[in-house]
Amino acid sequence: MEKENKTKGKVVGIVANLVMVEVEGPVAQNEICFISLGQENLMAEVIKVVGKIAYVQVFESTRGLKPGSAVTFEGHLLEVTLGPGILSRNYDGLQNDLDKMEGIFLKRGEYTDPLNREKKWIFKPLAQVGDEVQAGDWLGEVDENGQPHKIMVPFKMKGTFTIQEIAGEGEYTVDHTIASITDGAGEKTDLTMVQKWPVKIAITAFKEKPRPFKLLETGVRCMDTLNPITEGGTGFIPGPFGTGKTVLQHAISKQAEADIVIIAACGERANEVVEIFTEFPELEDPRTGKKLIERTIIIANTSNMPVAAREASVYTAMTIGEYYRAMGLKVLLMADSTSRWAQALREMSNRLEELPGPDAFPMDLSAVISNFYSRAGFTYLNNGKTGSITFIGTVSPAGGNLKEPVTESTRKAARCFYGLSQARADSKRYPAIDPIDSYSKYLEYPEVQENLEKYINKSWLNDVMKAKDILLRGKEAMEQINILGDDGVPIGFHETFWKSELIDFVILQQDAFDKIDASTPMNRQQYMLTKVLQLVESNFSFHHFEEVSSFFKELINEFKQMNYTEFESEKFKQHEKTLEEIMQKQAN
Ligand SMILES: Nc1ncnc2c1ncn2[C@@H]1O[C@H](COP(=O)(O)OP(=O)(O)OP(=O)(O)O)[C@@H](O)[C@H]1O
Ligand SMILES: [Mg+2]
Repeated sequence: MEKENKTKGKVVGIVANLVMVEVEGPVAQNEICFISLGQENLMAEVIKVVGKIAYVQVFESTRGLKPGSAVTFEGHLLEVTLGPGILSRNYDGLQNDLDKMEGIFLKRGEYTDPLNREKKWIFKPLAQVGDEVQAGDWLGEVDENGQPHKIMVPFKMKGTFTIQEIAGEGEYTVDHTIASITDGAGEKTDLTMVQKWPVKIAITAFKEKPRPFKLLETGVRCMDTLNPITEGGTGFIPGPFGTGKTVLQHAISKQAEADIVIIAACGERANEVVEIFTEFPELEDPRTGKKLIERTIIIANTSNMPVAAREASVYTAMTIGEYYRAMGLKVLLMADSTSRWAQALREMSNRLEELPGPDAFPMDLSAVISNFYSRAGFTYLNNGKTGSITFIGTVSPAGGNLKEPVTESTRKAARCFYGLSQARADSKRYPAIDPIDSYSKYLEYPEVQENLEKYINKSWLNDVMKAKDILLRGKEAMEQINILGDDGVPIGFHETFWKSELIDFVILQQDAFDKIDASTPMNRQQYMLTKVLQLVESNFSFHHFEEVSSFFKELINEFKQMNYTEFESEKFKQHEKTLEEIMQKQAN
C-alpha cells in the first residue's frame, strides 16, 4: 500500500484542528499526512476531499501553523502496529506509548514507538515449511506475560501462500524475519513479528462469526443472573453522573472470564484518566493472583487532546482487540465513556459544517455507533479455534436523559442494556442497575437459552423469569402502598413488595468493595436464586403489615451476612440454619 511517490500539498486554510490543503496529486479518504511546522511534523487524517482541496483533521494543536506549510501524504490510513509487547501498555489514541512521555501527554509532533524493538522474545514455531497459509494463520508463538501471543500471517496478505522458511525455536526481536512465504506466482514475502492494520477497518481473518451463545460470567449477580452478557456479546451502561459506571466497569474488568482486558478511557478531565493509570495497576487479578495490568491494555484520551486523536482511540482499542481475538483469546473491551467519543465526532462534524442531526451530532451517528459495536463478536478461526471480543461501553447522558442521541443510537447497537438509576444510586443500592428497565436480548436467543439450561440447570430460565416478575410486581405494589397508605392496601401488597425487596437486597445489591461479595461465581448465584425463590414462593399468613416488614427484614439481614461469607463454609451453613429457624417461627 506504500506509495512510490508521495502526494504533496500545501496548507491553504486553518480552522482550529481542521486544515485545508491544496493537493498536487491523488489522496484518499482517511489517508494520513504530515504537515511540516518548523522542526515538527504534525500528523493529520483526510476527512473530506473536494476537487483539489483535502480537508484534514490534525491530531495535534495547530498553534503557529500558517498557510503555505508543506504537506506530505503517506499513502496509507491511520494504522496500529501489532506485535508482541502490547500487553500492559498505556497508549493514547494514536498508539503513542504514554509511559515514554514527559508529563501527562506527549509534546507536539512527537510520536513514540508502540513496541520495544530491542527486547528478545522466545519464539516457538507452530507451522512448518510447505504449509499452506492465509491471513491470520498462526506461524508461531511467543510468551507475553503468560499469554500465548500468536505470530500470524499479516491480515493484509490476500490469497494463499506456502511457507518456504520458518525460524526455529529461539530468541528474536520483533523485527527479525521469522518466516518467508510465497504466493502462487512464486513471489516471496519475508515476515517479522510485526504487522500494521488500519484502525477503521475491521479485521475479518476468521472463518465464521455466529451469534454469540455462551454466557460470559462477570461475577456481578444482577448481570449474570438477571441479564447475562455473552462471550462476544455487546452491552452498554448508561447512567447519570456519579451513579457507578466506572466502578461497575472496573468490577467487570477484574472479574469477567477474559484473557485480555482492553480499556478505552475517554475522560472529561486529564485527572480522570490519570486515575486509571494509578488505580488500575494496583488491582489484583483474582484469576491469576498477579496484577490485573499484566493482561490489560489501556488506551487513554481526554477532552484536552485534539478531537481527531479522541475519535481514533476507540478504533485503536477495537483493532488491538481484533488482533488478540485472532490469536484465539477471549478479549473484554470496555469504553468509558463513549459519550465523550461521540462528542469528538460532533465537534468534527460541526467544524466541517455538515448538516447536523439531533443535538448537533452527525446525521450518521447511529450508523457509526452500530458499525463500531458490530466489530465485537464471537469467531471461529480458520483453524477451528475460537476467539471473542465482548464489548461494554458506558454512556453518560446529559441530565440522565435516556432519549438523547448517543443513548438512543447505542440502544440500537448493543444487545444488553444496564441502565443505572439515579434513585438507586441515591439510596446506595449498588450496583445501581435498574432491574426493571434493564435487559439482555441474549435471553431470547434459543442458542443462549439452550446453553444456560445445559450450563446451569433445566429450570434456570424459568427461575430468572420468576425473579423478574416478582421485581415488577413488587414495584407496582410499592406504588399502590405509596398512594393508598400502609393500611389502605391488602396485606398481600406488603408481602409482594417485601418479596421483591428480598430479591433486591440479596441478589441485585452487591458490594464491589468486599472481598467475597464483589464477585459471585455462577454456582453460588444459582444457589442463592434457588434459595430466595423458595421463600418468595412460600405462602405466609401475616396478620399485620408490620409483621411482614419485620419478618423480611430479619431474613434480608441474615441473607446479606451470607453474601459476605465464604460459600459453603461453616459460617455459611450457620446462616442457612438461622434462615430455617426464622422461617419456622413464621410458619408456626
Ligand atoms: N457497586 C458499588 N459498590 C459500592 N459502591 C459503589 C458501587 N458503585 C458505585 N459506588 C459508589 O459510587 C461512587 C461513584 O461511582 P463511579 O465513579 O463509578 O460513578 P460514574 O458513573 O463513573 O461517575 P462519572 O459520571 O463521574 O464518571 C463510587 O465512588 C462509590 O463510592
Ligand atoms: Mg466514571
